[in-house]
Amino acid sequence: MTNIAIFASGNGSNAVNLVKVFNSGSRIRVALCLTDKENAPVIEKMRELGVETLYFPRSIWRDNPETILNVLHQHDIKLIALAGFLCFVADPIVEAFEGRILNIHPSLLPAYGGNGMHGANVHKAVIEAGESKSGATVHIVTSEVDAGPIVVQREVPVLPDETPESLEAKVHEVEYLIFPEAIVKTVAQLTPPEPPKSVDDAWAETLGVPNNVPPVPKSAPSPAYSGNPNNLSEPISLKINPATAPMGQGAAEPMPPTFLVWSVVATILCCFIPGIVAIINSAKVSSKYYAGDIEGARRASRNAEIWIIISFVLGVISNTLIVPLQLAGLF
Ligand code: GRF
Repeated sequence: MTNIAIFASGNGSNAVNLVKVFNSGSRIRVALCLTDKENAPVIEKMRELGVETLYFPRSIWRDNPETILNVLHQHDIKLIALAGFLCFVADPIVEAFEGRILNIHPSLLPAYGGNGMHGANVHKAVIEAGESKSGATVHIVTSEVDAGPIVVQREVPVLPDETPESLEAKVHEVEYLIFPEAIVKTVAQLTPPEPPKSVDDAWAETLGVPNNVPPVPKSAPSPAYSGNPNNLSEPISLKINPATAPMGQGAAEPMPPTFLVWSVVATILCCFIPGIVAIINSAKVSSKYYAGDIEGARRASRNAEIWIIISFVLGVISNTLIVPLQLAGLF
């Protein structure tokens, strides 16, 4: 789970949208909302959604950013989303969260960005300039206002009868799509995917036993192979050394036969109790083998074999005796 924080100063419709998108899932969670406006409508909305929301006056944001950083660290925040945040983010915060602060801006940056360009001002300027399109941009915050690298940007058409209000509503709709998208994209880059599990680990996990198979020693690349994986024309030797290969690829110690099929056949066709004993021993072969108890696996394999034979013998005896006993009227 990746905790994110929202900084907001106003209405908070983007903040609400982010909480609704993320907080019912299990990957990203809006864990905190900070504001610089004591009566901002966003405060009530966030509290109603169960998000811890704190107000810090502008003086703290400007002169004491360590207070903000402490709160962010206490909540294990990995990324900050500026959703209509009208206060300057101090350099120590930008540096501590370098590449991890995203801002949403209601224009196609770099157009209509910079100081004074926020909210209705942007939409008025776009319409007055006679633009045929506008849009929204999510970018990474740097020390320069509205100038960091763009993460996601999307256009909306500006129609001939457009008003700042109608354009704002259209841009908001696009913001609700691209802000979560940009956050997911940035979080994915922060947390590299887990390496795939080895076959041994997957088996051990399935059987609920520890994987005691010793790690495979790294052998030197064969002289014919330069070690450059990008050279697709080069032949790569796929020969497996049975003495060192991991389990499942020609293991150092092959697993003894489990006799599972025979155990089941013996159970169904011959004698039930010895057949069950054979199945139990058969299951023990693989669990003991993957737990590293090779001797135990061999013993279980032998036992499975013996109990299959017992089951067959008892089955044959009982089936052959039943006929003369029936003829003699004793059964
Ligand atoms: C949005 O248009 C955003 O682009 C800008 O401020 C506005 C915030 O709106 N930075 P809301 O408070 O999320 O409704």
